[in-house]
Amino acid sequence: MRIDIVTIFPAFFDVLDVSLVGKARERGLLDVRVHDLRDWTHDRHRTVDDTPYGGGAGMVMKPEPWGEALDEILGDDAVLIVPSPAGERFTQKMARELAQESQLAFACGRYEGIDQRVIDEYSARGRVRLVSLGDYVLNGGEVAAMAMIEAVARLIPGMVGNPESLVEESHEDEGLLEYPIYTKPAVWRDRAVPDVLLGGNHGAIAAWRREQSIERTRRHRPDLLPDEV
Ligand code: ADE
Repeated sequence: MRIDIVTIFPAFFDVLDVSLVGKARERGLLDVRVHDLRDWTHDRHRTVDDTPYGGGAGMVMKPEPWGEALDEILGDDAVLIVPSPAGERFTQKMARELAQESQLAFACGRYEGIDQRVIDEYSARGRVRLVSLGDYVLNGGEVAAMAMIEAVARLIPGMVGNPESLVEESHEDEGLLEYPIYTKPAVWRDRAVPDVLLGGNHGAIAAWRREQSIERTRRHRPDLLPDEV
């Protein structure tokens, strides 16, 4: 998969060289290219923003540098992702869909956002998704893009050592949150690992885990509880 990122802060993405995404790049599973939006400006100050038509606080990202950058970067099959608190919510389901794509391009806006005509222009020519990480406001799309890239990259076939670890996770199985997990030692600071996990009764372990998943989901995310549990 090819991932292009357009930003005025390329340094945000230096950390993509470490961890799983870094390994995927080394192994050739991922081709990540980070671009500085200012490379597509032509004035001495490398201007990327201007005041909003209609008034209001803050600055808006000018369409021209985005147009030049995206014309150069987007291939025919690309999905353009614009991180925005005004977008559709990012979910595990969306991560799974995006992991099937051949090219993702992230347009990271700063200030109050990108001139709407950029979104309209590329929506008319191809696939564009305005995507929100959650109901809170970040200073720009960079951190959101990073989160989405990590969520998608680990789902690319061949990425994760043990594919089963993907299946059991929160949000994958039945839509329940993951159960609590433990490792050695069996007792730490007088806190014992639940007996059922030490007994080797796999049926009992599975039942306990499911119960814990349901309880956690009820407590933290009641909106996710399916009707039948
Ligand atoms: N940019 C600013 N806030 C954001 C959010 N919540 N999700 C995605 N992109 C953003």
